[in-house]
Amino acid sequence: MKAVVWHAVGDIRLEDVPDPEIQEPTDAIVRLTASAICGTDLHMVRGTLSGMREGTILGHEGVGVVEEVGKGVRNLRRGDRVVIPSTIACGYCAYCRAGYYAQCDHANPNGPRAGTAFFGGPESSGPFHGLQATYARIPFANVGPVRLPDDVDDEDAILLSDIFPTGWFGADMAEIDPGDTVVVFGCGPVGQFAIASALLMDAGRVLAVDRVESRLEMARSQGAEVIDFEREDPVEVMLELTGGIGPDRAIDAVGVDAEPPHRGPAAEEAREHADEFRQEVDRVAPARNPHGDLWEPGEAPSQVLRWAVDGLAKAGTFSIIGVYAESAMTFPIGKAMNRNLAINMGNCHHRKYIPRLVELVASGAFEPSRLLTQLEPLSDAIAAFEAFDRREHGWVKVELEPVA
Ligand SMILES: NC(=O)c1ccc[n+]([C@@H]2O[C@H](COP(=O)([O-])OP(=O)(O)OC[C@H]3O[C@@H](n4cnc5c(N)ncnc54)[C@H](O)[C@@H]3O)[C@@H](O)[C@H]2O)c1
Ligand SMILES: [Zn+2]
Ligand SMILES: [Zn+2]
Repeated sequence: MKAVVWHAVGDIRLEDVPDPEIQEPTDAIVRLTASAICGTDLHMVRGTLSGMREGTILGHEGVGVVEEVGKGVRNLRRGDRVVIPSTIACGYCAYCRAGYYAQCDHANPNGPRAGTAFFGGPESSGPFHGLQATYARIPFANVGPVRLPDDVDDEDAILLSDIFPTGWFGADMAEIDPGDTVVVFGCGPVGQFAIASALLMDAGRVLAVDRVESRLEMARSQGAEVIDFEREDPVEVMLELTGGIGPDRAIDAVGVDAEPPHRGPAAEEAREHADEFRQEVDRVAPARNPHGDLWEPGEAPSQVLRWAVDGLAKAGTFSIIGVYAESAMTFPIGKAMNRNLAINMGNCHHRKYIPRLVELVASGAFEPSRLLTQLEPLSDAIAAFEAFDRREHGWVKVELEPVA
């Protein structure tokens, strides 16, 4: 079968690989009808999420049809159409039963304290082969995959695999009360779904920060008040727009590849931190392999953490869904402590949110596919990765279509 395979930092390839097989009784084999590229994949190609094993199939977003199930899978059968949660969880440990699927005790072969098990990730996450492929082995298939109603098509369903639940999780952890002002950093796919989720949770106002025009435009079309951090100082504007109080809640939907402003009124302060930022990049991305303007790590890993803590209202809540490598160490602890900020963060417990979001989408209350901008065949995956990495105009969320 065809799959996108990680070889080294800056080196991914579309290749022929062997078809997956059932290994455990709770496995299923799914034929993928939709996959997608995520900002998390970019961290792995840029080297800011290190520890990838050569030969790992990338991708953790998938929709498909069940081909085969092990004898421990009694709730699915061949022919069922499912959305696959990005994270893998056993369903029986105390963490899973409490809804903390991303902290499952059993799914990660590296042990209960090793961290979140997910498809197509680094050694420490399994590793498990990913979903940018024609077929995939789904461990704990009796727990993860959620059956799809016929009226939820692949274009909507693929966004339910990771980024809609993650945006929802971010808004949930932000403790949004009706009427709250929420600032979302990053208007990539995850940021767009954080904006949508905050609005669905009755946020009074949503501010959205990025520098990519077409992404800011999409945020504006959702009703967000947009801030271009290379034209204005985002912290100043956040305060200005809220009567000097600051937003009640902030969501980081950027993560470790954050960029500093290279121009505009905030650039000077960022330049003052240039040495610190460089040290942060060296720590999180010891191996880098940019090709021209491709696969460049973000230059300021802690930029969003600094802005969010600076701009939030006193006693506000900061929700971090942007991914930071375990080696990332910088956080403005002093300011956060002295403002009584609450901080919640982590990997999404996808399986906790997906069933309800499938119903929300089936009801017609929200159509996630309006935030999908590209539909590319899996055969063009590498070019699609490059366009997404470059944040080319109009490229926000990319669905990949495997052809069996
Ligand atoms: N916690 C989870 O479970 C989970 C799940 C999925 C994705 N993620 C993470 O969410 C993050 C976003 O994913 P994505 O697919 O939207 O990625 P993306 O790379 O497409 O989007 C990131 C956006 O942030 C913007 N940005 C860069 N520096 C910024 C700054 N200083 N201030 C504001 N915006 C800035 C970029 O211009 C870009 O538009 C990634 O870190 C990804 O790994 C987390
Ligand atoms: Zn993802
Ligand atoms: Zn578990």
